[in-house]
This record gives sequence, C-alpha cells and structure tokens, in this order.
Amino acid sequence: MDQTLKETLKKKISNRETKVCIIGLGYVGLPNALDFARKGFSVLGIDIDKERVQKFNRGENYILGTDEKGELKKFVAAGKVSAQVDFSDLGQMDVIVICVPTSLSSNLAPDLQHIKNSVREIARRLRRGQLICLESTVYPGTSEEIVLPLLESSGLKAERDFYLCHSPERVDPGDGNYGTKQLSRIVGGIGPDSLEVGVFFYEQITEKIFPVSEIKIAELAKVYENTFRAVNIALVNELMLLCDQMKISVWETLDAAYTKPFGIMPFYPGPGVGGHCIPVDPHYLEWKAREYGFYTRFISIAGEINRKMPYYIREIILRALNSLGVVPARAKILLMGMAYKKDINDARESPAIALAELLLKDGMGICYHDPYIEAVEIFSQKFISVPLEEEVVSSSDLVVITTDHSVINYQWLIEKARKIVDTRNATKGLKDIEQKVVLI
Ligand SMILES: NC(=O)c1ccc[n+]([C@@H]2O[C@H](COP(=O)([O-])OP(=O)(O)OC[C@H]3O[C@@H](n4cnc5c(N)ncnc54)[C@H](O)[C@@H]3O)[C@@H](O)[C@H]2O)c1
Repeated sequence: MDQTLKETLKKKISNRETKVCIIGLGYVGLPNALDFARKGFSVLGIDIDKERVQKFNRGENYILGTDEKGELKKFVAAGKVSAQVDFSDLGQMDVIVICVPTSLSSNLAPDLQHIKNSVREIARRLRRGQLICLESTVYPGTSEEIVLPLLESSGLKAERDFYLCHSPERVDPGDGNYGTKQLSRIVGGIGPDSLEVGVFFYEQITEKIFPVSEIKIAELAKVYENTFRAVNIALVNELMLLCDQMKISVWETLDAAYTKPFGIMPFYPGPGVGGHCIPVDPHYLEWKAREYGFYTRFISIAGEINRKMPYYIREIILRALNSLGVVPARAKILLMGMAYKKDINDARESPAIALAELLLKDGMGICYHDPYIEAVEIFSQKFISVPLEEEVVSSSDLVVITTDHSVINYQWLIEKARKIVDTRNATKGLKDIEQKVVLI
C-alpha cells in the first residue's frame, strides 16, 4: 500500500488540481460533468458520438431538464469543460468516470460492449495514481470479473497502483426533485484504499455518501432498486388487468389504497415500461443469477407482464374503434407521446413505440405528437411529430394518450377529439371525460 500515492491524489482532489474525465456524455454523464464543473473541477468529456460532442462544445444542452440555467455554455466559455471523441488524453486524467450505456442483447443477456471498449481505452493509458469510477448499472461481479482484469492487463495493480470503485448513478430524468443534492451515493471499492479515495472524491459533490464493504454490494443495490420498481409496476399493471375484468376502477382503487401512510408505495399502471433502466437492469440480475443455478422468478414474471401491456392497450383501442364503428384497417390514430415517461425527451424502449408497432401491424394509420421527441423510427420508417393542431386531433378516429407530458392541454384535447384512450390517467378530473374518454 502506497500511502503517498493515495494522499497525493486526495490532495489534488481537494485542491481541485484534479482533471476529471467523464466517458459517455448522456443522461448520466452530462449532469455529472456539470456537477463536477460546478464544484470547481476541470472536466473533459469523451463520447464516441460526434454530434453530441459538437453540441457539448457549443454549450448546447441536449438532455431535457438537465441544464435549466444554461451553465454548460458558461463552463465551456470559461474553459472549465470540453469534450472530444478521442481517448488519447486519458493518461493525463486523475479521475475517470465511466457513464456508458449497458443494454441487453435480443435474448435478454447483458451487453457490456460499451464498458469493455471504454475500459480497454483506459487500460492502454493507465498510469499510477489514477482513480477509475464505474457509474453505469451492472450486474454484481462486473467490476471484479470484467473491469479489473482489463485494467490490470496494463501491468498495473489495483490498490497498489490505481484505484477502482463503483458508484451507481441513481438520477431520475425529468424529476427535478431528485438531483445530486437530494440523492445519496452508494460507493463500493475494489479494496479499502479504492473505497477511501472513491468516497473522498464523491464527497466533493455530495454530503450523502453510503460506503459499502464490497464493490458487489454497490452493484447489487442498484439493480435491486430497479428490480423493485419493475416488479411493483408489474404488480399494479396486473391489478389493472384484473380491474378491467371486474369492471372496477383501478385508479380510484389505488387512490384509496395509497391513503395508507405506511407499508405501501404509490405505483401506477400504464402502457408498459421504458427507458434505459427498468426494462433492462432486472435482466442483468436474472442473467447473473443463472450462473448460480438460481431463477429469479419475480423478475421474469414482471418482465413478462410489463412487456404485455402494449398488447392490452391495443385491445382497448380495438374495443374503442368498434364502439365508433371504425374498421381497424381504416382507422386513423393519433398517439400523444413517444417518450417513455412524462416530461423527458427519451424514447428508448418506449412502450409507445411497441404499441405503434402493433397498430401498424393491424394496418392502422398512425401519427404522433410529442413536444420533446422530434422523430422516431418504427419498422425502418421515419415518423415525425405532427403539430398539435385542431385539424390533426379532430380528423383522428382515436387519440391515445401514451405519455402524460405536463405541457399538454388535456381539456382542449377532450374538446377536439372524437374519442380518447387514456393510458396514463392524464384526464383525471377534467370535464366531459364520461362521454369522450376510455380510461384503462
Ligand atoms: N438514463 C437514466 O435515467 C439512468 C439513471 C441511472 C443510471 N443509468 C445508467 O447509466 C448508464 C448510462 O446511461 P445513460 O442513460 O446516460 O446512457 P446514454 O445513452 O444517454 O449515454 C451514454 C453515452 O455514452 C456514449 N458511449 C457509448 N459507448 C461509448 C464509449 N465506448 N466511449 C465513449 N462514449 C461512449 C454514447 O454515445 C452516449 O452519448 C447506463 O448503465 C444506465 O443504465 C441511467
């Protein structure tokens, strides 16, 4: 153990002489870059997406709700932050934070190619005294089994020459209530020195740190958090399916149940789950569990129920069209929202896309409006968000509220639409819902 190496890095961190590199400037990396810049660090962002890098260097925010005060532009102008596509400067960095995507293959296995690629780039330039922090969501064992051997292939040894920690990001895009200040950070280290340096580093941006004794615990805690959410959403979606059969309002049932101040948490039904976390992360755990001959039944059932939701919404749409006397193959449907949840500009894994695919297969004519998603590709066809004009709404046989963005005037929509299928309870408490709105 080299006390001087560790103390030198900690001193550089507290004196802000540290150069912080963020690899991956997306939903996690961009806010991170701003957080560190705000605290006086000089930040270099690296991303393989040229367009993102150019936008970053122009100070243009490309992630809704991330830079409301326009700080990126100021930091770029002051030379505090910059971005590039090449990795050649990694050796000059003191701290490297990895925020690259972790997706799934088509058969629900973890796809760690982005992590491996960035770690290989780091390993090529690894030098003594660097701290590497993995923030991407991973299954328990990734840091020890994948990241560590790649880094040590450089000839340097963790704890003796460099430090490795995992601090899973917990940001909730679109939710201004939970930023860096409000959220605590779990930190795990590959050894005690890595933990100490990792905790010291993250303490610079937040007071709320929860150190854990093993790096695997940090990895598992994060996938468990998202599994908890996926399972509870599935539970409430299943309740909705039952309520449909029993002709009971699921929404009023939930409003009543959620008046209990303990032992229950509000989750709501919808057209399915989306984004980069909830439909993905639980399957990381499911996949890893199989190595131990263990089957995580809650995860597979939750995945199955949540993935079926667009099929159920399709059924409701068919029923609504039937009530209007419209043949599905001639129906014109306006989907309100492509983002996977309200007030964000992220359509990855969006249930609205899954639903649109089903409707297209039925031969329906579809268009969509989303104030935050300019265009999407469905079955290799480009769809562009249509303007929300009276003519567009009134000429549609059915309007389907797929995302409940706050900026939409739902009362106006009810007035202009022939009929609405509301998958989000966005029309709650509005006038004329009995005549016009079919609520799931
Ligand atoms: N989006 C969320 O709400 C959220 C919340 C918490 C945790 N996470 C986790 O954080 C990680 C990142 O997610 P995200 O939503 O920010 O992803 P993102 O797709 O928004 O951003 C990732 C960025 O990394 C870049 N990239 C990919 N491979 C790269 C490489 N080899 N080198 C450099 N850049 C590369 C991409 O071009 C992209 O700009 C994932 O593991 C995700 O599960 C996401």
